[in-house]
Amino acid sequence: MISLWRSSSFGFVLLVGLAFILLPRTHGWSKEGHILTCRIAQGLLEPEAAEAVENLLPHYANGDLSSLCVWPDQIRHWYRYRWTSSLHFIDTPDDACTYDYSRDCHDPHSVKDMCVTGAIQNFTSQLLHYREGTSDRRHNMTEALLFLSHFMGDVHQPMHVGFTSDEGGNAIALRWFRHKSNLHHVWDREIVLTALADYYEKNLDSLQEEIVRNLTDGIWFDDVASWQECGDLLPCLNKYATESINIACKWGYEGVKSGETLADEYFNSRMPIVMKRIAQGGVRLAMILNKVFGQPEEGFAAAT
Ligand SMILES: *[C@@H]1O[C@H](CO)[C@@H](O)[C@H](O)[C@H]1NC(C)=O
Ligand SMILES: *[C@@H]1O[C@H](CO)[C@@H](O)[C@H](O)[C@H]1NC(C)=O
Ligand SMILES: *[C@@H]1O[C@H](CO)[C@@H](O)[C@H](O)[C@H]1NC(C)=O
Ligand SMILES: [Zn+2]
Repeated sequence: MISLWRSSSFGFVLLVGLAFILLPRTHGWSKEGHILTCRIAQGLLEPEAAEAVENLLPHYANGDLSSLCVWPDQIRHWYRYRWTSSLHFIDTPDDACTYDYSRDCHDPHSVKDMCVTGAIQNFTSQLLHYREGTSDRRHNMTEALLFLSHFMGDVHQPMHVGFTSDEGGNAIALRWFRHKSNLHHVWDREIVLTALADYYEKNLDSLQEEIVRNLTDGIWFDDVASWQECGDLLPCLNKYATESINIACKWGYEGVKSGETLADEYFNSRMPIVMKRIAQGGVRLAMILNKVFGQPEEGFAAAT
């Protein structure tokens, strides 16, 4: 064993292996962002959808959807789930600042539909079979619920619909206040963590309460109805992804250069946007689940 450790090639393989484990390409909202999105959504479910979600969750979740909303990030590098790794994001052409399903929704090998909006459609249509009662054995409905819930968060994270060459900001290394980070991670996690530390005593429940308050009788109260508007799913998903790339261009990438330090100014102007995207993700996830599990005449048409 000692001689193995001394062998430089073994050390190299070990280092590369560790780097691979520690630095996966993209994450999606941090744990906190996904938890908030899913808690907000679960709080807005109508009785039928609430019951279906409870039935689909494994018992160790204790009825709490948010406890498993990060699961798709945890398994994306497992061999069995490698096919899911491109489903967390969309790469759009550099500087185009537009999103086009047929142009952009594919994996790195150009396989169509393998992106976050394609995945949301896929898992929504799988879940539509749930109310037929004949649990469709081709698909695992529990996994479909967890994937849908997670990807609705990801599509609202602006840098998840970013530019191709910088991997949605992952390749833009910079500093966040005093530590090393990258532009993608700033939007995934740093802004949420800094907000939690500065304003909520690191208490996720307090932040959640304030988001919900802003939805029920605060700054977003008048917007919620329009956020939820959705006849057919595909145009709605186009809208969410377009909103994200527009925000990525206007607020994410704008004026940011590799190697620089982002601090108070960036944080103060972007934090409200991050909170709004988390709120929108939650409201819209609830809308989809209510349509999927509610009365058929008010929901999406089931695919055959
Ligand atoms: C849809 O889900 C199935 C597994 O349930 C998977 O094989 C397929 O690749 C998925 N497609 C997309 C676009 O997510
Ligand atoms: C569905 O997926 C979950 C999570 O991977 C797993 O625990 C469960 O056993 C699966 N159910 C079936 C019927 O395969
Ligand atoms: C809630 O709204 C207030 C303005 O009324 C704003 O200052 C605060 O940042 C908002 N909180 C969140 C979490 O969005
Ligand atoms: Zn993700």
